[in-house]
This record gives sequence, C-alpha cells and structure tokens, in this order.
Amino acid sequence: MVYDKGKVITGLVVFLIILLSPLWYNALSGKVEPSLKLSMPKEEKSCIEERMFMRSNHMDLLIKWRDDAVRKGIRTYKGLDGKVYRISLTGTCLSCHIDKAGFCDRCHGYSGVKTPKCWDCHNIPKEEGSKV
Ligand code: HEC
Ligand code: HEC
Ligand code: HEC
Repeated sequence: MVYDKGKVITGLVVFLIILLSPLWYNALSGKVEPSLKLSMPKEEKSCIEERMFMRSNHMDLLIKWRDDAVRKGIRTYKGLDGKVYRISLTGTCLSCHIDKAGFCDRCHGYSGVKTPKCWDCHNIPKEEGSKV
C-alpha cells in the first residue's frame, strides 16, 4: 500500500484543528468560563445593576443591603434605571434568581468560594424550615 504522506499529514492537521477549535474559540473570544453554565432568570432581562457590576460587587452590595436594612431601617434600593427594589436577599435576589443552586452555588463552587453562610437564617424559596 502506498500512502500519500502529504495528504495524511494534512488530514491529521485538519483533524486536530477541528478537534481543538472549541478551545481556541473560547480563548480568542475571551470566554474564559467555557464550562460554567449558570441558570439565568428567564423572564427578566436585567439585574438590579449592570451584569458586570453585579458579578464583581454583589457581595458588597448584599452587605450594604443588610446594614441599610438592619442598622438604618432603609428597606428600599434604587437600582438601574431608577427602578426601586425591596431590600431582601430572599424576596428580591432569589425572586429572579429562583435557581439558587444552579446560579449562586454553581458559580461559587466554580470559583472556589465557600458557600456563604447566609442560608442558616435566610430562606431559600421552596425550602421549608428557615426563618428570615
Ligand atoms: C445568624 C443569622 C443570619 C445570618 C447567618 C445572616 N443573616 Fe442576614 N439577616 C438576619 C436577620 C435576623 C435579618 C433582619 C431581618 C429583617 O429585619 O428583615 C437579616 C437581614 C439581612 C438583609 C436585609 C433584609 C433581608 O431580608 O434581606 C440582608 C440583605 C442580609 N441579611 C444579608 C445577609 C447575607 C448576605 C448573609 C451571608 C453573608 C447573611 N445575611 C447572613 C440574619 C442572618
Ligand atoms: C429583576 C430580576 C433580578 C433581581 C431582583 C436580581 N437579579 Fe441578578 N440578574 C438578573 C438578570 C436578568 C441577570 C443577567 C443580566 C444580564 O444578562 O445583563 C442578573 C445577573 C446577576 C449576576 C451576574 C451573573 C454573571 O453573569 O456573572 C449576579 C452576580 C447577580 N445577578 C446577583 C444578584 C443578587 C445578589 C441580587 C440581589 C441583591 C440580584 N442578582 C437581584 C436578574 C435579577
Ligand atoms: C458569576 C459568579 C457568581 C455568581 C453568579 C454569584 N456569586 Fe456570590 N461570589 C462570587 C465570588 C467570586 C465571590 C468571592 C468574592 C471575594 O472573595 O471577593 C462571591 C462572594 C459572595 C458573598 C460573600 C461571601 C463571603 O463569605 O464573604 C456572598 C454573600 C455572595 N457571593 C452571595 C451570592 C448570592 C446570594 C448569589 C446568587 C443570587 C451569588 N452570590 C451569585 C461569585 C458569584
């Protein structure tokens, strides 16, 4: 049997390019989290602030919310587009992000963040027995 070496090698190269293209695609398009599929709200289009702001600042925002509510008695928050939200971890955040496990927990797990100890006290919708 006579193989055309050139063709075999070209074939191999093309095969490898196709095989690796998802990785290159992600690298080139700046998608650094190819395996992180968050369960996003289906009805709502935007968060209380810009997505990127939320991604990096939701922890601080939640602490501000808690201090506003508990220390200052402020119970509303004016968000993006001036829309006013009730300050409530369960009642507001999780009313849109209903899939806490597929959203909050999945990203924390992915990012190596320990599940924040909020849920000892705060309610997770559709779970019973919690308090706030
Ligand atoms: C030991 C119990 C406990 C833990 C743990 C806890 N909280 Fe709270 N939190 C409360 C209580 C009690 C209130 C007051 C409820 C009220 O006045 O409406 C509150 C109020 C809040 C509020 C404002 C009102 C509301 O219902 O959301 C926010 C926001 C909040 N906490 C965020 C957090 C976050 C974020 C964490 C985790 C990092 C956390 N809390 C952990 C008990 C707790
Ligand atoms: C009105 C519905 C709604 C509420 C209330 C809401 N979110 Fe969101 N959230 C969204 C939507 C929709 C997106 C995606 C936004 C986009 O694509 O621009 C989002 C995005 C985010 C993101 C960024 C996810 C990513 O892509 O990295 C975080 C983090 C987040 N929300 C946390 C919270 C927290 C914490 C609260 C409460 C303080 C909250 N959200 C309240 C609807 C909501
Ligand atoms: C896109 C990824 C992502 C999503 C989605 C996300 N988080 Fe986070 N969260 C993080 C990261 C990363 C940190 C750690 C930040 C740091 O250590 O500075 C964090 C930290 C926190 C903290 C502070 C933890 C601590 O112990 O100090 C709280 C509270 C929190 N997240 C709540 C939530 C809630 C509630 C949701 C869902 C409504 C949520 N997060 C969704 C990435 C995410």
